[in-house]
Amino acid sequence: MRQRMRPILLTAVILGFSCVAHAEGDEARDPRISLALSTQEKAQFLAEMRRMLVSIQGIVQGVGAEDRGLIIDSARASGNRMARATPDAVRNKLPREFKEIGAPTHMLFEELVVRAETDDMQTLMTFTGTLMDQCVKCHALFKVD
Ligand code: HEC
Repeated sequence: MRQRMRPILLTAVILGFSCVAHAEGDEARDPRISLALSTQEKAQFLAEMRRMLVSIQGIVQGVGAEDRGLIIDSARASGNRMARATPDAVRNKLPREFKEIGAPTHMLFEELVVRAETDDMQTLMTFTGTLMDQCVKCHALFKVD
């Protein structure tokens, strides 16, 4: 009986090792699509990203404190105004798939500005969670380098 189990055990071990090796290889390669920005464009791009994080921080703080003004101001900063402020040089380099996630993200911030006038705080938090799906989706697909 024990003899017969050996090949099965061995196969399981080999499969296990190859899975680990494969995962590490993927990580080292970072399969996300590069936006291939110049050093200066990269700095501008990442500064915009950090401003979106500041918006999210303000929104979460605002919902916690039931401060509609703070939610509105924070969301507005990452809405259409930010979309328009993206430098042309950066915009022209961004692939269509990127814009298809990016543009609706700014629209969702604009929608939050409107919703924050009337929606209850729990609904606003749920909406913010949905908005943040966009951040997660894009970060999984693209990198700046
Ligand atoms: C359309 C694509 C896209 C969307 C949407 C997006 N990001 Fe990003 N973000 C990126 C990419 C690409 C990077 C660079 C990641 C890398 O190279 O590892 C990045 C980087 C960042 C960084 C790091 C900044 C730094 O200085 O290194 C922060 C913070 C960030 N994003 C916040 C957010 C937040 C918050 C949201 C959602 C409200 C968001 N991003 C939505 C594409 C996106």
